[in-house]
Amino acid sequence: MDDFHTLTATIERLLQIRCGNYKEDYIKRRLSSRMNAVRIKEYLEYNRFLLTNQEEQEKLRNALTINVTKFFRDKEVFELVKRELIPEILKKKQRIRIWSAGCSSGEEPYSYAIILYEIGLTHPSIDGLIYATDIDYEILKRAKEGVYERPALDNMTELQIKKYFTLRPDGKYEIKPHIREKVRFQYHDLMRGEPISRYLDLISCRNVTIYFNEPQKNDLCKVFHQGLTAGGYYVMGLSEYLGKESEPLFKSYRPLLKIFTRQ
Ligand SMILES: C[S@@+](CC[C@H](N)C(=O)[O-])C[C@H]1O[C@@H](n2cnc3c(N)ncnc32)[C@H](O)[C@@H]1O
Repeated sequence: MDDFHTLTATIERLLQIRCGNYKEDYIKRRLSSRMNAVRIKEYLEYNRFLLTNQEEQEKLRNALTINVTKFFRDKEVFELVKRELIPEILKKKQRIRIWSAGCSSGEEPYSYAIILYEIGLTHPSIDGLIYATDIDYEILKRAKEGVYERPALDNMTELQIKKYFTLRPDGKYEIKPHIREKVRFQYHDLMRGEPISRYLDLISCRNVTIYFNEPQKNDLCKVFHQGLTAGGYYVMGLSEYLGKESEPLFKSYRPLLKIFTRQ
């Protein structure tokens, strides 16, 4: 085994992050940013350092799972979800289940929760719930707290901010309980090969698979196919694409917005 693979084997064992399922380039770039930070040049030396340094293990975990996100990221996608996708689902049923997979610090699932709440004002019988999952324990803790800096809210109107957040004395914004209660956060590794639930109406997995290799992307599509109801929606990030092998599983619904329906 070469030095790089010795290190990735350590990472898999210590952090349960399966490096082999990510693009090698991506892992190397993330590793080099951590190695530079601790002034280590060789993989083997970093391997030794990692084994004995718990703080570095957490830093590396954060580096490997970059968590950039914001409320209503790519506004037009969420506008379409509110204007078309949820009303379409509501024609068939009142119980709506959404999975925000790779939810990071919670901005994405809370955005869906706000949409469900707003639609609920005119459809009081709607029963909506969002499963929100991530591989990063630290970020899930922050997501549950639901406390944000102002820039995370940039895509929202002042009125929305007033309605859905409490401005705290420290200048941060805390999501209100009536939105928070619609979201269930939990740890889930998308590489585990099974969906968080079945009969889902919409799976939002955005800006996560950019780091996955092609076979992993295909496997993930199969997992999402199993999790969705017939005709359920798969919402991807704008720069993502379906694995070639899984194209027959989904039909393009809005190609530019990377929204698909389950075949
Ligand atoms: C860039 S954020 C995307 C956040 C949000 N979906 C968005 O588009 O704004 C990517 C998230 O995917 C998570 N992630 C990476 N690999 C994962 C895996 N195997 N299973 C679950 N989550 C994963 C990371 O921890 C990170 O929080």
